Parts: sequence; C-alpha cells; structure tokens
Amino acid sequence: MIAGTSRGPPRMYGMSDGSSFYITTPVFYVNDVPHIGHAYTEVAADVLARWHRQSGDDTWLLTGTDEHGQKILRTATANGVLPQAWADRLVETAWRPLLTTININNDDFIRTTDERHKAGVQKFLRKLYDDGYVYSGEYEGFYCVGCEEYKQPDDLYYETGDAGLPLCLIHSRPVEVLKETNYFFRLSDFAQRLLDLYESNPDFVQPPAVRNEIIRFVRQGLADLSISRSSFEWGVAIPWDNTHVVYVWFEALLNYITAIGYGDDEQSFERRWPAVHLVGKDIARFHAVIWPAMLMAGGLPVPHRVFGHGWLLVGGEKMSKSKLTGIEPSQITDTFGSDAFRYYFLRAISFGHDGSFSWEDLSARYHAELANGFGNLASRVLAMVTRYFDGRVREPTTYSAADLAVQVMVGEAAVAANAAMGRLAIHEAIATVWTIVDELNGYITVHEPWVLAKREDGHDRLATVLYTVIEGLRALAVLLSPVMPIATQKLWVAIGAESALGALTKQNILSAGEWGQLPPGATVGVLEALFPRIEVEVAE
Ligand code: MSP
Repeated sequence: MIAGTSRGPPRMYGMSDGSSFYITTPVFYVNDVPHIGHAYTEVAADVLARWHRQSGDDTWLLTGTDEHGQKILRTATANGVLPQAWADRLVETAWRPLLTTININNDDFIRTTDERHKAGVQKFLRKLYDDGYVYSGEYEGFYCVGCEEYKQPDDLYYETGDAGLPLCLIHSRPVEVLKETNYFFRLSDFAQRLLDLYESNPDFVQPPAVRNEIIRFVRQGLADLSISRSSFEWGVAIPWDNTHVVYVWFEALLNYITAIGYGDDEQSFERRWPAVHLVGKDIARFHAVIWPAMLMAGGLPVPHRVFGHGWLLVGGEKMSKSKLTGIEPSQITDTFGSDAFRYYFLRAISFGHDGSFSWEDLSARYHAELANGFGNLASRVLAMVTRYFDGRVREPTTYSAADLAVQVMVGEAAVAANAAMGRLAIHEAIATVWTIVDELNGYITVHEPWVLAKREDGHDRLATVLYTVIEGLRALAVLLSPVMPIATQKLWVAIGAESALGALTKQNILSAGEWGQLPPGATVGVLEALFPRIEVEVAE
C-alpha cells in the first residue's frame, strides 16, 4: 500500500465491478436532537449506498455520533447529568430513532465513546507520536466551542460598536480566548503533498466550489494543529500523557477507520478502506485538509472522495437549532412519509448547492410529482389491467415505433441515471429517472387504452400498450427503490413482480433498463394510493 494515495486509479462510482463501496456520514454531535440538515446527509448517503448495493458492490454505510469535547460536556453539565449519561440518552432517544424515521439502512453505527473507537484512536496517535509527527508546544487563540475549533481572523466578525470578543461567523456567538500547552500535529509538513493530491486527483474534493476553497486555503500555508486539551477530561486520553485528552475533531475523524477495524481487524480494514465521505461544506476543511494529512502521517491511503454538500436554508440562512430555525425530520415525515422526505430533499436541491426549504414547495412537489405524476400513473395502469384483462399482464404483440421509442428511452435513462449517481449528482439521477414517469404518462395520453378497450379490434394493441406501461413501471420501481423504498416495494408487489422476479432489493439496478423482464402472465394486485393527497394545512 502506498501511503497517502488511494489504491489504483480513481474509480467512477456506479461503474460497478463488485468492488468495495464504503460511504460515510459525519458523526453527529449529541448536544441536541437531529434536524432536517442532519437528515439530509443521512438520506443522501443511504440512497447512494442502496444504489451501490443494488449494483452488486460490496457496500458499507457508516453513520454515528460524536460524543466527546467541550460542547457536549457543557450541554450535559447544564442539564445536570454526566456527559456519558447525556450521550446515551440522546443516542437512544433521538439519533438512532432518526434512522428509522427516514428509513436509513446503515450497516454500522459508531459512537465515539465505543471502546473500539477509543482503542483505535490511541493506537493511531501512538504511531504518529513514535514517528515524530506529534510534539509538545504552546498555543493561544480564539476558540469557538460551537465549532470546537480555533478560529482564524477570516472566520470572525465584530459586532458594530462592540469592543469585546469577536463573534464566530457560523454561530454568531462570541469566541473565547484559550491558551494551552498542548500536543501539536505537524500539519504544516503536509501542505505540498495535499496540493499535489488535489492536483493529481481533481475528484478528491468536490464539488468545484468547495475544491477551490480548499486549494485556496492550503496555498496560504498550514499551521501545525493543536490536538490535545488539558482543561477538561471528557475525551480520549493521550496515550503517553493522561493529563490531556485528544482534540475532539482529531479524534472524531478517526471514526471512519476505527469503525472498520483499524489496528484491530486488518482484513475488514483492507476490505473497506478507503471511503467516500459525505459532509456539509462547513466541515469540508476538516475532511479535505486535516484528515488526509493525518492519514498520510499514519501511512494509510487517503479517502476516495470528500463531497461537501450545501446547506438547507430557512429564511435565507443555514437552518440550525442554535438559531431557532431547526425543523425536526418527524415534523415532515409524520405528514408526508419518509419516502416523500427522501425524494423531496434529493430532487429539489442540486446536490452540492444550498437549497431553501419551504413547506409550500414540499407540498407542491409532493402533489404534482409524487401523487399526480408517479402515484397516479401506477394506480391508473393497474386499474386498467384489472378492468380490461382481469388483472393479468398480457403478452405484447407487435411493437410500434412509439412503443420501441419508450423502450429505448427507458434504457437510456437507466444508463444516464447510473452515470449521474457515479458523479454523486443525485438530483440529476432522480430527474433522469423521472423522465420515464413523464414519458409513460404522455404515452398513455396518446395511446388511450380506454379507447382501444372499446374497439372490437383493439385487443392486441391494448395488450401491447398496457405491457409497455407496466414494464416501464417495473423499471421505475427498481430505479426508484433506493430513493423511495416503501412506495416502490408496494408497487413491486402490485405489478406481480415479487412473485415473478423475486425481491425488489435483489434486482440489479444496472440492468433495470433492459426491456422485457416482467413475464407476461403476471397477476397484478390492488394498489392503494402510493402518495395519498394531503388535505391538512401544513405547519408554518
Ligand atoms: N461532529 C461534527 C462532525 C464530525 S465528523 C468526523 C459535526 N457535527 S454536526 O452534528 O454539527 O453536523 C453534522 C453535519 O450536519 C455536518 O455535515 C453539517 O454540515 C450538517 N448540517 C448541519 N446543519 C445543516 C444544514 N442546515 N443543512 C445541511 N447540512 C447541515 O459537525
């Protein structure tokens, strides 16, 4: 293994060859309950993981919680409990339940208080210390506890007319002055190697706006990083000096390798690493600068890719609990369901850009695209098969040019969607699949099965038209199952595919666009409305 490089040339994810696809979310702070910004990363990672699983990749989705550091300690203390008890409570009552609320199929959940994590962190740090990448020194600076980070002048602003401490741009709260004798990581040694990495592998940090910001930042030169704290004890002890705990970011980043057996289970580690990291753009620097430098120092390959997605904005600002604009995922899923939640955020926002959330937009898309566009298509088709053919899918006869055009477009859309997923352009992949929904709706309007049904000689043509739309629905169910697992499963059963073709999650997504998979003779069932109209007034 060559230190500091990923193995082999960069892969196009989605071009499956059965190899490893390891994807992570950040580990989330347990100082508060999750909001839709956190759920957004989870859903994006889950959709990519499901897509890859159905492509036959050896897929692993990791998520978890970040439980050490001053921020959690202060929250716990303010609530009159010990930090471990606080973290346990939040994990069990809020963070694990989130995964059920939005239907995340993760393979592992790591808590940074897990023994496996603490042991791995200590092993890693000991190695860096032994190899001379860590030394003892003194540091004084402005520290934001909200960010758990020393701040640079660019990250701060002053309230007009206020002679006091500057405020953190992200949290709009005054920073604190911190002076400590700490252990330092020789981050400055890695500036050139990092720049070489960004240059030689342009996909390493994405999207381009984040990549440019990272390159600009590293070009200014890097200061060594203070990686220990001695003013409190809530953390992982520095292995050679237990008066210090490891700086929470340095420790938390290591979750991505401690979870897959770093220093403990070499086979598992080799099988999974390196990863694709999905993070919010606000924490891209930690992941695209500090993290690869840590890995280089530790003699390990860097991640395949760090993708910094945009923010969900409410009222034009980053939605956040601390600014009281937080919306809990269940506020949405209780009314619209988890499928609509997943679809909406991934379809409406270009992955990599900021997006404004509004209830009106959510409701409008739900009704136009899910209820009328997709749900209605499915119920109409099934109702027609039931009414005209006693619920049996009939063998198509001669395909007309229009039918063949549907087949070609389904095939092409499936290929294009896979390529978009490979670029992490999730919104584009869904929009591409949606062209099939629009095509099938248009096809029904043009070919009027209800008119064919009334014609003496219309029977054969009707069989072909209905086969065309139902086979189109078969492809849609497979292609949309990573995004909307519940609705597509209902559809899958209703079109008779479960008994004819087996489980939906076992269908290879890479061949979803190949025509003619649903065998004639399949029996369709009843389908309740996939996305019932919602009459209730949604909360403002
Ligand atoms: N604990 C660190 C991550 C450590 S990873 C080694 C952390 N946690 S967090 O809970 O504050 O944030 C986790 C993620 O949520 C970040 O990627 C952040 O960008 C994301 N989001 C928080 N608010 C968000 C929005 N309003 N919109 C989109 N994502 C947002 O940072």
